[in-house]
Amino acid sequence: MKILGIEHVGIATNDRNKGKNFWENILGIKKSSSEEVEDQGVITDIYDTGNGKVELLLSKYSDSPIAKFIKNRGRGIHHLCLSVENIEDAILELKQNNIDTIGNTYTYGAEGFKVIFIHPSSTGGVLLELAEKKE
Ligand code: CO
Repeated sequence: MKILGIEHVGIATNDRNKGKNFWENILGIKKSSSEEVEDQGVITDIYDTGNGKVELLLSKYSDSPIAKFIKNRGRGIHHLCLSVENIEDAILELKQNNIDTIGNTYTYGAEGFKVIFIHPSSTGGVLLELAEKKE
């Protein structure tokens, strides 16, 4: 597969205003988008440094993956996202190498990207998202 770079770092939080104040007002990073990803039960606030993004993840429901993550591990870095040239090629290669993905095919994540998550047990400890950007 062809990896194009680090797309974003996902941070699980439960204090949206504190996040906004810090990333936008203190660091001066512009919020580039905010949307709900119903599939994952999250609201994503994306702050774009111009060279890599920070994705603040807020849970919409008490039983969403992000809510569970915060309950078990506290707020903090939730996943790393790498952009790939072609997600279908990437998924095929992962399957051929018996890499443990969450779900068998891509779903649509924030910004309309095609995404798949790789289980931390296969990556050395971090939840890894692969994303193919929209044209
Ligand atoms: Co992400």
